[in-house]
Amino acid sequence: MRILSGIQPSGKLHIGNYLGAMKQHLELQRQGEAFYFIADLHALTTVKDPQLLRENIRDVALDYLALGLDPQKATFYRQSDIPEVPELSWLLSTVTPMGLLERCHSYKDKIAKGISSDHGLFAYPVLMAADILIVDAGVVPVGKDQKQHVEVTRDIAQRFNGQYGEVFVVPEERILPETGMVPGIDGQKMSKSYGNDIAIFLEGKALKERVMSIVTDSAPVEAPKDPDANNVFNLLKLFVKPEEAEEWRERFLKGGLKYSDAKKRLVAALGEVFSEARERRKELTQRPGYVEDILRDGARRTREVASATLARARKACGID
Ligand code: TRP
Repeated sequence: MRILSGIQPSGKLHIGNYLGAMKQHLELQRQGEAFYFIADLHALTTVKDPQLLRENIRDVALDYLALGLDPQKATFYRQSDIPEVPELSWLLSTVTPMGLLERCHSYKDKIAKGISSDHGLFAYPVLMAADILIVDAGVVPVGKDQKQHVEVTRDIAQRFNGQYGEVFVVPEERILPETGMVPGIDGQKMSKSYGNDIAIFLEGKALKERVMSIVTDSAPVEAPKDPDANNVFNLLKLFVKPEEAEEWRERFLKGGLKYSDAKKRLVAALGEVFSEARERRKELTQRPGYVEDILRDGARRTREVASATLARARKACGID
Protein backbone atom coordinates (compact mmCIF):
# COMPACT_ATOMS: atom_id res chain seq x y z
CA MET A 1 0.00 0.00 0.00
CA ARG A 2 1.48 3.34 -1.01
CA ILE A 3 0.30 6.16 1.23
CA LEU A 4 0.78 9.88 0.62
CA SER A 5 -0.18 12.97 2.52
CA GLY A 6 0.90 16.60 2.55
CA ILE A 7 1.14 19.00 5.45
CA GLN A 8 0.84 22.73 4.89
CA PRO A 9 3.48 24.73 6.73
CA SER A 10 1.04 27.30 7.96
CA GLY A 11 2.37 27.90 11.46
CA LYS A 12 3.08 26.12 14.71
CA LEU A 13 1.06 22.93 14.88
CA HIS A 14 -1.45 22.66 17.70
CA ILE A 15 -2.95 19.84 19.71
CA GLY A 16 -6.01 19.79 17.43
CA ASN A 17 -3.71 19.13 14.44
CA TYR A 18 -2.01 16.42 16.44
CA LEU A 19 -5.18 14.49 17.27
CA GLY A 20 -6.86 15.16 13.93
CA ALA A 21 -3.99 14.30 11.60
CA MET A 22 -0.42 13.92 12.82
CA LYS A 23 -1.04 11.12 15.31
CA GLN A 24 -2.85 9.15 12.63
CA HIS A 25 -0.18 9.80 9.99
CA LEU A 26 2.41 8.51 12.42
CA GLU A 27 0.42 5.33 13.04
CA LEU A 28 0.00 4.75 9.32
CA GLN A 29 3.73 4.91 8.60
CA ARG A 30 3.97 1.37 9.95
CA GLN A 31 1.23 0.02 7.72
CA GLY A 32 2.53 0.79 4.27
CA GLU A 33 5.02 2.69 2.20
CA ALA A 34 4.34 6.24 3.33
CA PHE A 35 5.30 9.48 1.61
CA TYR A 36 4.77 12.57 3.75
CA PHE A 37 5.76 15.98 2.52
CA ILE A 38 5.76 19.62 3.49
CA ALA A 39 3.45 21.38 1.05
CA ASP A 40 5.45 24.59 0.78
CA LEU A 41 4.33 25.42 -2.76
CA HIS A 42 0.74 25.22 -1.57
CA ALA A 43 1.53 27.43 1.40
CA LEU A 44 2.64 30.18 -0.98
CA THR A 45 -1.01 30.69 -1.84
CA THR A 46 -1.65 32.03 1.66
CA VAL A 47 1.70 32.80 3.35
CA LYS A 48 3.24 35.76 1.53
CA ASP A 49 5.97 36.63 4.01
CA PRO A 50 9.21 34.85 2.99
CA GLN A 51 10.79 34.83 6.45
CA LEU A 52 7.60 33.48 7.99
CA LEU A 53 7.34 30.78 5.34
CA ARG A 54 10.94 29.70 5.98
CA GLU A 55 10.26 29.42 9.69
CA ASN A 56 7.02 27.55 9.16
CA ILE A 57 8.71 25.00 6.91
CA ARG A 58 11.42 24.43 9.49
CA ASP A 59 8.86 24.17 12.31
CA VAL A 60 6.73 21.58 10.55
CA ALA A 61 9.80 19.46 9.78
CA LEU A 62 10.91 19.61 13.41
CA ASP A 63 7.41 18.96 14.74
CA TYR A 64 6.86 15.85 12.66
CA LEU A 65 10.29 14.41 13.34
CA ALA A 66 10.05 15.15 17.06
CA LEU A 67 6.65 13.50 17.30
CA GLY A 68 7.93 10.29 15.78
CA LEU A 69 7.99 10.46 12.01
CA ASP A 70 10.57 7.80 11.30
CA PRO A 71 12.60 8.58 8.18
CA GLN A 72 13.50 4.87 7.91
CA LYS A 73 9.83 4.01 7.53
CA ALA A 74 8.34 7.05 5.82
CA THR A 75 9.82 9.16 3.04
CA PHE A 76 9.73 12.76 4.27
CA TYR A 77 10.45 15.66 1.91
CA ARG A 78 9.74 19.21 0.83
CA GLN A 79 7.35 19.52 -2.09
CA SER A 80 9.52 22.25 -3.66
CA ASP A 81 12.45 19.82 -3.86
CA ILE A 82 10.53 17.76 -6.43
CA PRO A 83 10.53 19.78 -9.68
CA GLU A 84 8.59 16.96 -11.35
CA VAL A 85 5.52 18.01 -9.34
CA PRO A 86 4.90 21.46 -10.86
CA GLU A 87 5.70 20.08 -14.29
CA LEU A 88 3.12 17.34 -13.89
CA SER A 89 0.72 19.91 -12.51
CA TRP A 90 0.85 21.71 -15.86
CA LEU A 91 0.14 18.56 -17.83
CA LEU A 92 -2.81 17.85 -15.55
CA SER A 93 -4.16 21.37 -15.84
CA THR A 94 -4.66 20.82 -19.56
CA VAL A 95 -7.26 18.14 -18.83
CA THR A 96 -8.89 19.94 -15.89
CA PRO A 97 -12.20 21.67 -16.61
CA MET A 98 -12.60 25.13 -15.09
CA GLY A 99 -15.95 24.09 -13.64
CA LEU A 100 -14.32 21.36 -11.58
CA LEU A 101 -12.13 23.92 -9.83
CA GLU A 102 -14.88 26.52 -9.58
CA ARG A 103 -16.89 24.06 -7.50
CA CYS A 104 -14.19 23.54 -4.86
CA HIS A 105 -15.40 24.53 -1.37
CA SER A 106 -11.94 25.25 -0.10
CA TYR A 107 -11.40 27.82 -2.85
CA LYS A 108 -14.80 29.41 -2.28
CA ASP A 109 -14.26 29.52 1.49
CA LYS A 110 -10.89 31.19 1.14
CA ILE A 111 -12.31 33.83 -1.21
CA ALA A 112 -15.18 34.41 1.22
CA LYS A 113 -12.59 34.98 3.98
CA GLY A 114 -10.97 37.70 1.90
CA ILE A 115 -7.88 35.83 0.69
CA SER A 116 -7.04 37.36 -2.69
CA SER A 117 -8.07 35.21 -5.58
CA ASP A 118 -4.90 34.55 -7.54
CA HIS A 119 -4.37 31.81 -10.05
CA GLY A 120 -2.33 29.72 -7.57
CA LEU A 121 -5.22 29.60 -5.16
CA PHE A 122 -7.57 28.58 -7.95
CA ALA A 123 -5.19 25.92 -9.29
CA TYR A 124 -4.40 24.60 -5.79
CA PRO A 125 -6.29 21.31 -6.35
CA VAL A 126 -4.38 20.60 -9.58
CA LEU A 127 -1.06 20.92 -7.77
CA MET A 128 -2.44 18.63 -5.11
CA ALA A 129 -3.41 16.11 -7.79
CA ALA A 130 0.17 16.24 -9.06
CA ASP A 131 1.51 15.56 -5.52
CA ILE A 132 -0.62 12.46 -5.28
CA LEU A 133 -0.36 11.08 -8.81
CA ILE A 134 3.39 11.59 -9.13
CA VAL A 135 4.15 8.84 -6.58
CA ASP A 136 1.35 6.49 -7.71
CA ALA A 137 -0.25 6.79 -4.28
CA GLY A 138 -3.13 4.39 -3.66
CA VAL A 139 -4.28 5.85 -0.36
CA VAL A 140 -4.45 9.48 0.72
CA PRO A 141 -5.18 9.95 4.43
CA VAL A 142 -6.68 13.41 4.97
CA GLY A 143 -9.18 15.25 7.12
CA LYS A 144 -12.74 15.67 5.97
CA ASP A 145 -11.99 19.17 4.66
CA GLN A 146 -9.71 17.68 1.98
CA LYS A 147 -12.12 15.02 0.75
CA GLN A 148 -13.25 17.06 -2.23
CA HIS A 149 -9.67 17.71 -3.28
CA VAL A 150 -8.96 13.99 -3.46
CA GLU A 151 -12.14 13.52 -5.48
CA VAL A 152 -10.90 16.19 -7.88
CA THR A 153 -7.62 14.25 -8.11
CA ARG A 154 -9.49 11.08 -9.05
CA ASP A 155 -11.45 12.97 -11.64
CA ILE A 156 -8.30 14.49 -13.17
CA ALA A 157 -6.53 11.10 -13.18
CA GLN A 158 -9.47 9.48 -14.91
CA ARG A 159 -9.66 12.22 -17.51
CA PHE A 160 -5.95 11.96 -18.28
CA ASN A 161 -6.15 8.17 -18.44
CA GLY A 162 -9.24 8.42 -20.64
CA GLN A 163 -7.50 10.80 -23.01
CA TYR A 164 -4.04 9.24 -23.14
CA GLY A 165 -4.19 5.69 -21.78
CA GLU A 166 -3.60 4.19 -18.34
CA VAL A 167 -0.89 6.44 -16.96
CA PHE A 168 -2.02 7.11 -13.39
CA VAL A 169 -3.11 5.08 -10.41
CA VAL A 170 -6.52 6.41 -9.36
CA PRO A 171 -6.20 7.00 -5.62
CA GLU A 172 -8.69 6.54 -2.80
CA GLU A 173 -9.10 8.98 0.03
CA ARG A 174 -8.94 7.69 3.58
CA ILE A 175 -10.87 10.11 5.73
CA LEU A 176 -9.22 10.21 9.12
CA PRO A 177 -11.71 9.38 11.85
CA GLU A 178 -12.84 12.49 13.67
CA THR A 179 -11.49 12.70 17.18
CA GLY A 180 -14.58 14.60 18.15
CA MET A 181 -14.40 18.34 18.39
CA VAL A 182 -11.17 19.55 19.91
CA PRO A 183 -12.13 22.86 21.52
CA GLY A 184 -9.83 25.84 21.56
CA ILE A 185 -9.37 28.05 24.60
CA ASP A 186 -12.59 29.92 23.75
CA GLY A 187 -14.64 26.76 23.20
CA GLN A 188 -14.90 27.08 19.40
CA LYS A 189 -13.19 24.38 17.34
CA MET A 190 -9.43 24.73 17.79
CA SER A 191 -7.96 26.50 14.80
CA LYS A 192 -4.92 28.58 14.10
CA SER A 193 -7.11 31.07 12.25
CA TYR A 194 -9.34 31.65 15.29
CA GLY A 195 -6.30 32.37 17.45
CA ASN A 196 -7.61 29.93 20.07
CA ASP A 197 -5.09 27.12 19.67
CA ILE A 198 -2.69 25.47 22.09
CA ALA A 199 0.59 24.73 20.31
CA ILE A 200 1.99 21.22 20.81
CA PHE A 201 5.41 22.45 21.83
CA LEU A 202 4.35 25.17 24.19
CA GLU A 203 5.78 24.52 27.66
CA GLY A 204 6.59 26.02 31.03
CA LYS A 205 5.08 29.37 31.88
CA ALA A 206 3.73 30.01 28.39
CA LEU A 207 1.78 26.75 28.41
CA LYS A 208 0.46 27.40 31.91
CA GLU A 209 -0.75 30.85 30.95
CA ARG A 210 -2.39 29.52 27.82
CA VAL A 211 -4.25 26.79 29.70
CA MET A 212 -5.23 29.18 32.50
CA SER A 213 -6.84 31.39 29.88
CA ILE A 214 -9.26 28.65 28.77
CA VAL A 215 -12.70 30.17 29.08
CA THR A 216 -14.92 28.75 31.84
CA ASP A 217 -18.15 29.99 33.41
CA SER A 218 -18.27 31.75 36.77
CA ALA A 219 -20.10 29.02 38.70
CA PRO A 220 -19.06 29.00 42.38
CA VAL A 221 -16.74 26.22 43.55
CA GLU A 222 -19.51 24.34 45.44
CA ALA A 223 -21.86 24.21 42.44
CA PRO A 224 -22.26 20.96 40.48
CA LYS A 225 -20.94 21.49 36.96
CA ASP A 226 -21.72 20.01 33.58
CA PRO A 227 -18.46 18.44 32.36
CA ASP A 228 -19.63 18.18 28.75
CA ALA A 229 -20.21 21.93 28.57
CA ASN A 230 -16.77 22.68 30.00
CA ASN A 231 -13.82 23.45 27.74
CA VAL A 232 -11.25 22.26 30.26
CA PHE A 233 -12.92 18.89 30.74
CA ASN A 234 -13.39 18.47 26.99
CA LEU A 235 -9.67 18.92 26.45
CA LEU A 236 -8.55 16.98 29.51
CA LYS A 237 -10.51 13.87 28.51
CA LEU A 238 -8.50 13.68 25.27
CA PHE A 239 -5.17 13.50 27.08
CA VAL A 240 -5.76 11.30 30.13
CA LYS A 241 -6.72 7.64 30.41
CA PRO A 242 -10.46 6.92 30.17
CA GLU A 243 -10.63 5.94 33.87
CA GLU A 244 -9.14 9.23 34.90
CA ALA A 245 -11.48 11.14 32.59
CA GLU A 246 -14.36 9.34 34.34
CA GLU A 247 -13.06 10.49 37.76
CA TRP A 248 -12.92 14.08 36.56
CA ARG A 249 -16.42 13.78 35.16
CA GLU A 250 -17.66 12.76 38.61
CA ARG A 251 -15.76 15.56 40.32
CA PHE A 252 -17.39 18.09 38.00
CA LEU A 253 -20.86 16.66 38.61
CA LYS A 254 -20.45 16.47 42.37
CA GLY A 255 -19.51 20.12 42.91
CA GLY A 256 -16.60 21.41 44.98
CA LEU A 257 -14.28 21.43 41.99
CA LYS A 258 -12.03 24.38 41.23
CA TYR A 259 -11.55 24.91 37.52
CA SER A 260 -7.94 25.82 38.20
CA ASP A 261 -7.31 22.28 39.52
CA ALA A 262 -8.59 20.77 36.29
CA LYS A 263 -6.42 23.25 34.37
CA LYS A 264 -3.32 22.29 36.35
CA ARG A 265 -4.00 18.66 35.58
CA LEU A 266 -4.34 19.52 31.89
CA VAL A 267 -0.93 21.22 31.90
CA ALA A 268 0.60 18.13 33.52
CA ALA A 269 -1.21 15.73 31.17
CA LEU A 270 0.08 17.60 28.12
CA GLY A 271 3.54 17.32 29.65
CA GLU A 272 3.15 13.55 30.01
CA VAL A 273 1.98 13.08 26.43
CA PHE A 274 4.48 15.42 24.79
CA SER A 275 7.54 15.55 27.08
CA GLU A 276 9.55 13.06 25.06
CA ALA A 277 8.73 14.86 21.83
CA ARG A 278 9.65 18.19 23.42
CA GLU A 279 13.09 16.87 24.34
CA ARG A 280 13.58 15.39 20.92
CA ARG A 281 12.56 18.65 19.30
CA LYS A 282 15.16 20.55 21.30
CA GLU A 283 17.82 18.07 20.21
CA LEU A 284 16.77 18.32 16.58
CA THR A 285 16.84 22.11 16.75
CA GLN A 286 20.53 21.81 17.58
CA ARG A 287 21.11 19.62 14.53
CA PRO A 288 19.76 21.51 11.52
CA GLY A 289 22.15 19.66 9.23
CA TYR A 290 20.66 16.33 10.27
CA VAL A 291 17.11 17.52 9.58
CA GLU A 292 18.21 18.88 6.21
CA ASP A 293 19.83 15.53 5.35
CA ILE A 294 16.58 13.71 6.10
CA LEU A 295 14.61 16.03 3.80
CA ARG A 296 17.21 15.81 1.04
CA ASP A 297 17.31 12.05 1.25
CA GLY A 298 13.50 11.96 1.17
CA ALA A 299 13.52 14.16 -1.93
CA ARG A 300 16.08 11.93 -3.63
CA ARG A 301 13.95 8.83 -3.00
CA THR A 302 10.80 10.58 -4.12
CA ARG A 303 12.37 11.89 -7.30
CA GLU A 304 13.27 8.35 -8.34
CA VAL A 305 9.58 7.50 -8.39
CA ALA A 306 8.48 10.93 -9.62
CA SER A 307 10.77 11.05 -12.63
CA ALA A 308 9.45 7.70 -13.85
CA THR A 309 5.82 8.82 -13.49
CA LEU A 310 6.49 12.12 -15.21
CA ALA A 311 8.28 10.37 -18.09
CA ARG A 312 5.24 8.13 -18.53
CA ALA A 313 2.87 11.10 -18.54
CA ARG A 314 4.99 13.14 -20.97
CA LYS A 315 5.31 10.24 -23.34
CA ALA A 316 1.58 9.53 -23.22
CA CYS A 317 0.70 13.05 -24.30
CA GLY A 318 3.35 13.35 -27.00
CA ILE A 319 6.06 15.31 -25.22
CA ASP A 320 9.02 12.97 -25.17
N1 TRP B 1 -4.28 20.60 0.95
C1 TRP B 1 -3.78 19.86 2.07
C2 TRP B 1 -4.14 20.59 3.37
O1 TRP B 1 -4.53 21.68 3.41
C3 TRP B 1 -2.28 19.68 2.02
C4 TRP B 1 -1.88 18.89 0.82
C5 TRP B 1 -1.20 19.35 -0.27
C6 TRP B 1 -2.13 17.52 0.59
N2 TRP B 1 -1.01 18.35 -1.15
C7 TRP B 1 -1.54 17.21 -0.66
C8 TRP B 1 -2.77 16.52 1.34
C9 TRP B 1 -1.63 15.93 -1.18
C10 TRP B 1 -2.86 15.24 0.79
C11 TRP B 1 -2.28 14.94 -0.46
O2 TRP B 1 -4.03 20.10 4.41
